[in-house]
Amino acid sequence: MSHHIVEAKNLHYTYPDGTVGLNGVSFLITHGESVALVGENGAGKSTLLLHLNGYLLSNHGELRIGEYPVTSKNLKSVRRSVGMVFQDPDDQLFMPTVFDDVAFGLLNLGVPEAEVEHKVIQALEIVGVPHLQKRPPYKLSGGEKRSVAIATVLVMSPDILVMDEPTSSLDPKSRSRLIALLKTFKHTKIIATHDLDMALDLCERTIVLHHGQITADGQTRFLFQDEHLLLQSGLEKPLKMQGCPICSR
Ligand SMILES: Nc1ncnc2c1ncn2[C@@H]1O[C@H](COP(=O)(O)OP(=O)(O)O)[C@@H](O)[C@H]1O
Ligand SMILES: [Mg+2]
Repeated sequence: MSHHIVEAKNLHYTYPDGTVGLNGVSFLITHGESVALVGENGAGKSTLLLHLNGYLLSNHGELRIGEYPVTSKNLKSVRRSVGMVFQDPDDQLFMPTVFDDVAFGLLNLGVPEAEVEHKVIQALEIVGVPHLQKRPPYKLSGGEKRSVAIATVLVMSPDILVMDEPTSSLDPKSRSRLIALLKTFKHTKIIATHDLDMALDLCERTIVLHHGQITADGQTRFLFQDEHLLLQSGLEKPLKMQGCPICSR
């Protein structure tokens, strides 16, 4: 499954105003891996994820999704493989109704309408919001928007699922549902998050970013025991690892 490999080599990105977003990032993620991307606010997590579907193109370094270097020429192929849930659902939802938003990508691919309808309802059911299908997305709560944004990506059956802080603004029930759902997604997952309990639950591997550089890359369970590393990255041990009698059940 080499076409699902994600490989970055010395990736740099500087925003037009001169702010450094990434400062030499290298990693290799193979098919089926589940990887958490953690780090303090401003560490570069979103900047890195936005490169994975070519929303941002690196100023220096290389990024490859399977056989495709991520360049403006290859965006279509890259985006067919990489499904991206943005940090802000408002960046993802732009159609008059929830149904239209979830249907948009499929219709663009020329999928027949009857099949689209079936897939849209199924995706909305999976994220637990089929009742919202006729609502305008801009009138939904933050958590509802997040669920719909996730449906717009899942409906496309991506090979690589990229999510930027997917549990923020979700209520506990929706969060648990999302985690359970992500456990059933067997392809590659790359998830930027401050929710270290979710990372521990879902991701065997974690990459820690700090000031646009990778400061650690290894087994989640092992890295989250490193208090110095967590402190440096503005993070705290997951509740499950703090000996909390409720969370560690
Ligand atoms: N559009 C932008 N223009 C300029 N600087 C930006 C922009 N977006 C993010 N940055 C800066 O890039 C750095 C990395 O940000 P970001 O990737 O959003 O971090 P994270 O997602 O880890 O919180 C930060 O210093 C941030 O202020
Ligand atoms: Mg971010």
